[in-house]
Amino acid sequence: MFSLRTLLGLCSLASAHALSYNTSKIQWGPCNETELPSEYPIECSRLPVPLDYTRPNASETLVLELVKVPATVKPSKGSILLNFGGPGLPARDDLVGALADRLLALSGRSYDLVAFDPRGTGNTLPTACFEPGYESNEFANDLLLGNQSDVQLGRLWARGTTEAEACLARQNETGSLISTAFVARDLISTVDALGEDGMLRYWGFSYGTTLGATVSAMFPDRIHRMVLDGQQNPHEYYHAQADFQEWTDSDKVFSAIFSGCVAAPSNCALATGNNATAADLEHAVWDLVDTLKYRPLALGSYIVDYSVLKGLLQASLYDSAGWPQLATWLNLLITKQYAVLEDLLTAAFPTDESTVLASLRTVEALRGIHCGDNDVRTEGLEGMMSVVERLYRTSRVMGDAAIGNYFACAQWRIEPRERYTGTFDIKTKNPVLFIGNTFDGHTPLASARNLSATFEGSVVLEVNGYGHSSLAVPSACTIRTTSAYWLDGTLPNEGVVCPSDAPLYSDVTWADVIAKVYGNDTGPGHKRTVPASPVSRSLFGPVLRLRSGESG
Ligand SMILES: *[C@@H]1O[C@H](CO)[C@@H](O)[C@H](O)[C@H]1NC(C)=O
Ligand SMILES: *[C@@H]1O[C@H](CO)[C@@H](O)[C@H](O)[C@H]1NC(C)=O
Ligand SMILES: *[C@@H]1O[C@H](CO)[C@@H](O)[C@H](O)[C@H]1NC(C)=O
Ligand SMILES: *[C@@H]1O[C@H](CO)[C@@H](O)[C@H](O)[C@H]1NC(C)=O
Ligand SMILES: *[C@@H]1O[C@H](CO)[C@@H](O)[C@H](O)[C@H]1NC(C)=O
Ligand SMILES: *[C@@H]1O[C@H](CO)[C@@H](O)[C@H](O)[C@H]1NC(C)=O
Ligand SMILES: *[C@@H]1O[C@H](CO)[C@@H](O)[C@H](O)[C@H]1NC(C)=O
Ligand SMILES: *[C@@H]1O[C@H](CO)[C@@H](O)[C@H](O)[C@H]1NC(C)=O
Repeated sequence: MFSLRTLLGLCSLASAHALSYNTSKIQWGPCNETELPSEYPIECSRLPVPLDYTRPNASETLVLELVKVPATVKPSKGSILLNFGGPGLPARDDLVGALADRLLALSGRSYDLVAFDPRGTGNTLPTACFEPGYESNEFANDLLLGNQSDVQLGRLWARGTTEAEACLARQNETGSLISTAFVARDLISTVDALGEDGMLRYWGFSYGTTLGATVSAMFPDRIHRMVLDGQQNPHEYYHAQADFQEWTDSDKVFSAIFSGCVAAPSNCALATGNNATAADLEHAVWDLVDTLKYRPLALGSYIVDYSVLKGLLQASLYDSAGWPQLATWLNLLITKQYAVLEDLLTAAFPTDESTVLASLRTVEALRGIHCGDNDVRTEGLEGMMSVVERLYRTSRVMGDAAIGNYFACAQWRIEPRERYTGTFDIKTKNPVLFIGNTFDGHTPLASARNLSATFEGSVVLEVNGYGHSSLAVPSACTIRTTSAYWLDGTLPNEGVVCPSDAPLYSDVTWADVIAKVYGNDTGPGHKRTVPASPVSRSLFGPVLRLRSGESG
């Protein structure tokens, strides 16, 4: 096993030529600390890019707001551009917040990490089809799961019609300037402006892997290094009525909440003081979900119903670090300790107007981007019934999670100026590293294998853990493997599996694993508790409804 220090030494030699262009058009300066608070010495810049790449001679520009977390090992070997998925999530606040430590560690601390909020998100051509107030509240209140009741599907279909019409009326022009193909071009514009070696170094998570696959397909000769982590199936993303493959392993991850619990009862409230089996616990939780369908629970300003509880369960699949807290909440529900639960929910889900509206915008942004990219339209709810049945058969826990998205997309009426419609049979100039977790409830290993099969020279690294993307599984092996790839292009052998260093329901965090690899005094110079992965911020409505319970 190589040591990371050796690697760092080797690589400063290998990349001596990498920055020879030295013609950066980007002026880095301080960031707006109100907008982008960070404990890191971050830098910001504004980069004008063409607003509409299909009209190359037009003068209108779009300003990309860039943020950089500088490499801590100097001199920097160049920039890695990042996207954290959704689609719909702005990237800057995630990068400079909870993720910087991990991403620096996973890239040998030798690269500047750069991100911008992609079109359709944050302040960059935001998708805003509904006015704040009545319209937004109605939208939030209809963010229900497909199986909430036997009349729910019809309601969601009608809501999708309303949404598609509202977006066309309010966003026809800006909406058409939003697409993954355009964001791929924005990535290349950024590379050009950075003036390094003219090559793209890119790391995408979740939907960010579809963006990475797209930019690879459009600009295969510009790819230096690329990690696609938590791979989505881009064939389905662009051309299917739903992302069926995404939910392949969701029920296995869900069951692990309970098997992990009984294996570590001292850190899991659900297993404390009883001899319940994992199957008993899972059964009890499904009973609770069904009961809330008919008997929603009023807890202060919240109404905890089927969609809210199931939404929490769905969101919990992102990161097992949140499972002890989830188990506490479930135990309080089962044992009817409602006052305590109400206090915990109040602390966890602020209901102030701006938080609620910001969350609502991420749902709108997801649809604005995904629905425009997707090229299938379906007439009438009848045409979606087999889709719903297939989703329900695929996963009990996730099957009805994203029906509202698919129904909106089926009726979407804004056509993007450019949509990527080509294949993913690709030979990139340098090979891509795919990463898939053994148990990922959103982007299964099967999708990484699916895409790697047509990316010549690529390799899939498997990480044996639970959760969404490698960021959810603390692993020294992952740090060593991805650092080696970034630093000198070394790919693991196909079939390599990195173990998790954080057993389920343990207290082991990324900070511990990073300290183990790097020592505890060489980092960016501060220690703090790292919250659950923000890639995990839920894009599903029901958790949002919990936040908006008061205003709605
Ligand atoms: C790159 O440009 C900067 C500022 O423009 C300058 O200080 C530096 O010496 C240049 N480096 C090289 C290798 O030319
Ligand atoms: C910083 O951001 C805040 C919040 O978006 C904004 O109100 C303020 O005007 C910004 N300050 C500057 C100097 O741009
Ligand atoms: C754009 O400008 C270039 C150079 O000025 C010109 O050659 C080209 O024909 C123009 N293209 C269009 C579509 O107007
Ligand atoms: C939307 O915009 C396109 C061109 O940008 C235009 O052709 C179309 O008529 C517009 N549709 C509506 C309903 O305004
Ligand atoms: C759990 O099982 C043990 C051994 O069978 C028994 O002694 C104990 O009373 C049980 N505890 C509960 C809470 O049922
Ligand atoms: C949908 O709800 C019905 C009735 O409560 C239940 O029998 C079925 O298992 C549910 N299916 C899914 C996928 O949630
Ligand atoms: C990848 O997935 C797509 C969509 O599910 C499928 O059509 C295609 O055959 C798969 N490709 C491979 C190589 O498995
Ligand atoms: C750093 O590690 C040393 C031993 O390796 C330990 O004694 C010390 O407490 C650690 N410091 C922090 C801040 O974790």
